[in-house]
Amino acid sequence: MPVLLNVNENPYPPSAEVVATIAADVATAASGLNRYPDRDFPALRSDLADFLAKESGVRLAVEQIWAANGSNEVMLHVLQAFGGPGRTALSFAPTYSMYPEYARDTATRWVQGRREDDFTLDPAAAAATVRAEQPSVVLLASPNNPTGTALRPETVAAVCEAALDVEVPTTSGHAPAVVVVDEAYGEFRRAGTPRPSSSSTDTRTSR
Ligand SMILES: Cc1ncc(COP(=O)(O)O)c(C=O)c1O
Repeated sequence: MPVLLNVNENPYPPSAEVVATIAADVATAASGLNRYPDRDFPALRSDLADFLAKESGVRLAVEQIWAANGSNEVMLHVLQAFGGPGRTALSFAPTYSMYPEYARDTATRWVQGRREDDFTLDPAAAAATVRAEQPSVVLLASPNNPTGTALRPETVAAVCEAALDVEVPTTSGHAPAVVVVDEAYGEFRRAGTPRPSSSSTDTRTSR
């Protein structure tokens, strides 16, 4: 299949230079396989911070970057940390088909709000759903899979405002909802489309 639009793949293979660099780095790493690797991977997180600064204009500290085996694993970590029995994860359908799987795998209640007929999210309606459902995690994809719809910064702002009104019971009282802006396909946004996570003031987790 020459083009697979529903997966985050590049139709072009890596260049010979990239292949050679990866092979050389693997050889170097292999010589130290008698030890566990550094499980905080600071060098990788530092390189990712540099990439994000260049790509989005936002400079994050290494401590603000988390890395794992694909964003699937990052999202599972988020649900393991902030979801769980008695808690709710919320997104707006149609959206990425793995979100309900992360919820199921962490025994988190799964709720789907609805999108407008053109697949956009109305800021006020999305915020009202957050206040009504009291989720501990809200998942917003941009561009959305499978519709390709960009998330408007004002929608992120409205959802973050509503997230602050959520009261998730915790051992020491209650906490607001965590808002995840999932930009797995961010590099494919149309020219001129802002990254919603860089323009929002209160996005707790972003890719
Ligand atoms: C919205 C969205 N989030 C996350 C992912 C998973 O991405 P990764 O390959 O980084 O695990 C995909 C993959 O299609 C996606 O569409």
